[in-house]
Amino acid sequence: MNMWIVLAIVAFAAGASAQSCSCATMKWATCDGEGAACGCSILIGDSNPQPLNCSALIPKCFLMKAEMYRAKKGLDTRSGGKPVESAFVDNDGIYDPDCENNGKFRAKQCNNTEECWCVNSAGVRRTDKGDKNLVCEKLVETHWLRLQLTHKPVTTPLSAENLKAAIADAINKRYTNFDKQLVSAVEYDADARMIVVDVKKEKGERKTDLANMAYYMEKDVKVLPLFKNPEKFVPVVGGQTLEMENILVYYVDEDPPTFTMKHLSGGIIAVIVVVVLAVIAGLLVLFFARKRQNQKYNKAQQREMEPM
Ligand SMILES: *[C@@H]1O[C@H](CO)[C@@H](O)[C@H](O)[C@H]1NC(C)=O
Ligand SMILES: *[C@@H]1O[C@H](CO)[C@@H](O)[C@H](O)[C@H]1NC(C)=O
Repeated sequence: MNMWIVLAIVAFAAGASAQSCSCATMKWATCDGEGAACGCSILIGDSNPQPLNCSALIPKCFLMKAEMYRAKKGLDTRSGGKPVESAFVDNDGIYDPDCENNGKFRAKQCNNTEECWCVNSAGVRRTDKGDKNLVCEKLVETHWLRLQLTHKPVTTPLSAENLKAAIADAINKRYTNFDKQLVSAVEYDADARMIVVDVKKEKGERKTDLANMAYYMEKDVKVLPLFKNPEKFVPVVGGQTLEMENILVYYVDEDPPTFTMKHLSGGIIAVIVVVVLAVIAGLLVLFFARKRQNQKYNKAQQREMEPM
């Protein structure tokens, strides 16, 4: 009997100490030390731990590196998610990024291949792909994000009036005191259940990183939260909680991207091919229809002639 009590105390103590040193903003982090000496890190390569500041959102570049590493090792990238782990099929656009020491993306990314491209401060490609000699002069800052959220059906219609304050509040609370002022506009389309949130900062502002917040939100809505606390992003609008169903993020950079028309001309060629094929098919249908009609006509003529 005594043994059980001792075991329970030991387990409780272990739980308590684990709780006192943990990483609120990254559930996959490993933490060590007590009180002020508590330090957390995440593996971004074999025996390559990246120290983390768990009072802030973790830079997206580190998160992507950690996800690539975990996927390579067959580790869970969702934690607590469905038992069938289809790894990175969902995570369209992920690659193994090169990060600066402060967690910012390097302007040029090659995903460990010979093919390289330039990215913005959100790590999103903003040029055509090139070879290793491609030059990316600087990291171009993303200063405006449009978050296009779809919410799950609600019992009572949402009041669009309260929506902006509610969304700004929820973003501020969940994403480590994210500046509410940056939520510059919120529009609502009730029929489409769509909330369009513009998050915008002054050009040249380098204090806030919009991309980190958007990445945490994308994970909240599409997969599972990256936070240790598994609660979801659920704004409360007029006393009603609003669960999100989907999110699409548009990036606006301080300098416009430099994609060429290559992709477009590929698209146009595809359209031309489809149109030509459709026309040929149409002509063939016409041709055979006519042939058939002629045959019928001939037969009818023959039948008419027979009795004579
Ligand atoms: C960690 O992030 C917080 C919040 O942004 C900041 O105040 C603090 O200075 C950071 N600590 C370190 C060691 O960078
Ligand atoms: C980066 O490389 C990995 C394989 O190492 C691949 O699965 C992924 O699609 C690549 N991403 C991009 C954007 O090229």
